[in-house]
Amino acid sequence: MKPEIFVLPHQQIEKHLQAAVRRVLPEADPTHVLLRPCPDVRFGDYQCSALMALAKARRINPRQLAAGVMAGLDVRAWCESVTIAGAGFLNFRLKTSTLAETLQAAARGEHLFFTKTAAARCIVVDFSSPNVAKPMHVGHIRSTDIGDALQRILRLLGHRVITDNHIGDWGTQFGKLLLGWKEILDRAALERDAITELERLYKVVNAACDADPQRLEAAKHELVKLQAGDAENLAIWKEMTRLSQVQFDAIYNRLGVKFDVTLGESFYNAQLPDVVRDLVARGIARESEGAMGVFSDGSVPPKEDVFLVNRDGEWVADPALVQKSDGGFNYTTTDLATIDYRLKTWSPQEIIYVVDDRQSGHFKKLFATFARWQPEAARRVRLVHVGFGKILGDDGKPFKTRSGETVKLGELMDEAQERAFRVVSEKNAGLDEAQRRTIARVVGLGAIKYADLSPNRQSDYVFSWDKMLALSGNTAPYLQYAYARIQSIFRKAALSHEDRVVAAITLEQPAEVALAKHLLNFGLALETAASEYRPNFICTYLYELAGCFTSFYETCPVLKAESAARQASRLHLCDLTARVLKLGLEVLGIDVLEQM
Ligand code: ARG
Repeated sequence: MKPEIFVLPHQQIEKHLQAAVRRVLPEADPTHVLLRPCPDVRFGDYQCSALMALAKARRINPRQLAAGVMAGLDVRAWCESVTIAGAGFLNFRLKTSTLAETLQAAARGEHLFFTKTAAARCIVVDFSSPNVAKPMHVGHIRSTDIGDALQRILRLLGHRVITDNHIGDWGTQFGKLLLGWKEILDRAALERDAITELERLYKVVNAACDADPQRLEAAKHELVKLQAGDAENLAIWKEMTRLSQVQFDAIYNRLGVKFDVTLGESFYNAQLPDVVRDLVARGIARESEGAMGVFSDGSVPPKEDVFLVNRDGEWVADPALVQKSDGGFNYTTTDLATIDYRLKTWSPQEIIYVVDDRQSGHFKKLFATFARWQPEAARRVRLVHVGFGKILGDDGKPFKTRSGETVKLGELMDEAQERAFRVVSEKNAGLDEAQRRTIARVVGLGAIKYADLSPNRQSDYVFSWDKMLALSGNTAPYLQYAYARIQSIFRKAALSHEDRVVAAITLEQPAEVALAKHLLNFGLALETAASEYRPNFICTYLYELAGCFTSFYETCPVLKAESAARQASRLHLCDLTARVLKLGLEVLGIDVLEQM
């Protein structure tokens, strides 16, 4: 393990605070004694609320504990004051000189207000995971954006991350697709737009199957042949998968999303019979109406039992199915084999699944089944479902096109760029078209991503072009604009980076101090976003940062500062703000522009 580095004042204070706690309560685990930004800046810059829990567990007076800890705490090197507040909070106010020194170290490039974690984990991030032969639609944006942001944040903090796109490339739909391919495929249409043609095949055959049981039998027959390894069907299936992947990749390229591995469901086919056999042998799965399922083992109260549901006041079985009556395997079976493979291949401490909240039942049962199947391994890994809500239209119903169809992701991105182009052209008629197109791409795609990342991921949100493309408010264009505006200050100042590095930072105006304090909290925003799997913390942080910057810029002249030293100091503040904005947007998967 790498030595811990405490470059930031709150880390230094935290270290001393933990030592002080250890002196007063030698038996306590002080690792949860942490500092967070103080919710009300009138009381301090950082706050520690952990002493109250320690006191409660020991039935001692929390204010007394706080007083005892404070008596043995010397943080005068960084703090102007430490106070006990309320029921036993500790509030810390930084010295302005500490702020200035921390900023100066950042200006020298020693840090950017965050440090790599001292406890790096190996984390598999399962996200995006669209299905073959279906277009990626608006529902896939959330998994793709949130998953990509999380993996970027985790990597930045020094974790070892493996991203895995668990493509839906196997399943009963292939029976119908194969039948369609063999009977009604339009080659020219396939060349033009493979997924649209595959989607058409599926729809036509599916309707035919609904109307005619013989067609359904024929489709099932194709599926059985595929599963038995029939060469022709395998070749067609491979081609369908390849063609779909080409389109997925085109979208990922536009979004700037990359995966370390893409191991679709089919990758685990060979393991599935063994998974079921093993579950049965261990008494975890059993037969029921011809199928195989995992049922409640009665080890927890019904309320907490994921294998039970309450129907009209009665608890009834809600098993996790692992094999169908026709011998086919289920989504859960594949996911069990997938966990097994991931643990054996990468030994991760954590696997996170960025998937729609509607699948929360699946993941609860999956995790519970895995814990029963491989209890030893399950203790070593944290399995987390990072769920999210829906995107809604103006009418409060799931977002659809005007004609009521699902919105294709590619088309949505086109429209974002087109709309951004119109806005940019209005504002910047002087720029040539190629420049305006570039700006429109970065702004348009950034706007969609940010609109998706900035709400709490579990709430539904209403999709609104006007809101997401607005140059004011909590939007990507607003933050990109804030960044570009700072770059324009430097163009006007015509100063080289070296000129700035030598200058000292002085903080005198309240707006300067407020901006400096907010800069210092970048790392805490990253850490909270990572530990709660919530990129929206970074959005809020950046939005507030842009607000602090605006207040600073309105009250503290930069280019017209009263002295060269003052100007250089303020230019540092501008530069550090720009760097944090840029990196903060980058971990959200959003680019910045030097000029807008
Ligand atoms: N392909 C699935 C869907 O579109 C999502 C897969 C999520 N990942 C997983 N390991 N189950 O619903």
